[in-house]
Amino acid sequence: MNQGRLTVVGLGPGDPRWLTPATAEALSAATDLVGYGPYLARAPEVPDQRRHASDNRVEVERARLALELAAQGRRVAVVSGGDPGVFAMAAAVFEALETGDPAWRKLEVRVEPGVTAMLAAAARVGAPLGGDFCALSLSDNLKPWDVIEARLRAALGADFVLALYNPISSTRPWQLRTALTIAAKIRGPNTPTIFARAVGRPDERIAVLDLADADPSTADMATLVIIGASTTRRIEREAGHAPYIYTPRFYGAGR
Ligand SMILES: C[S@@+](CC[C@H](N)C(=O)[O-])C[C@H]1O[C@@H](n2cnc3c(N)ncnc32)[C@H](O)[C@@H]1O
Repeated sequence: MNQGRLTVVGLGPGDPRWLTPATAEALSAATDLVGYGPYLARAPEVPDQRRHASDNRVEVERARLALELAAQGRRVAVVSGGDPGVFAMAAAVFEALETGDPAWRKLEVRVEPGVTAMLAAAARVGAPLGGDFCALSLSDNLKPWDVIEARLRAALGADFVLALYNPISSTRPWQLRTALTIAAKIRGPNTPTIFARAVGRPDERIAVLDLADADPSTADMATLVIIGASTTRRIEREAGHAPYIYTPRFYGAGR
């Protein structure tokens, strides 16, 4: 096997300043970029670089293509949004590696960390992830809803702050409403809840709500939902300014 290599990178949630220098280096050193078309469009142009754009739902085929190109000696960057290891391409690459051509195991596969949507959304409102938290994808494309609901109930029962990725889409219209209903019953209607849409992009929209007022129809595929724990707090501000939301580092009575 020759000198091919594969790096999996994430561009961050939107703002180009959230793309790390290590990711920028990997992108500019790559001979080939592989990824979902809109993500490739966000990567800075590099002369003579080949771009292999694909549809959003073909992750493992995309990963196989990337491994094949690396096996041919190309320097390949697989491009995700956010962080590549959070509900994204890094796991797909290892799924393909484990089940694919044994020769691929000789390749050097690197994963560069990125800024995941949950962190960008949290930073916009304060520090809601300041205590223990749990990230959950509401997509039942790759796992059954029963598993998602069991994990959701367990995380709510354990009083984690919840970050919900993939909350809703045209093919998954009811899951978010069900999750919010379960959460309101377990955690109470006044729990601080954040709908953070397109964070770091020109069409960003952040809403800080009580859980009872969270309307699933205002969310879409570009939304990250954060549901506070019992300890998550609001700091009210003057009219016209959203409250700060934070979860203290201590739990219960004392600091
Ligand atoms: C397939 S997951 C990819 C997550 C990505 N790898 C990350 O680390 O952020 C897509 C989901 O991430 C969330 N997401 C990604 N970018 C976002 C952004 N700029 N603002 C809010 N949520 C975002 C949404 O929940 C979306 O449905």
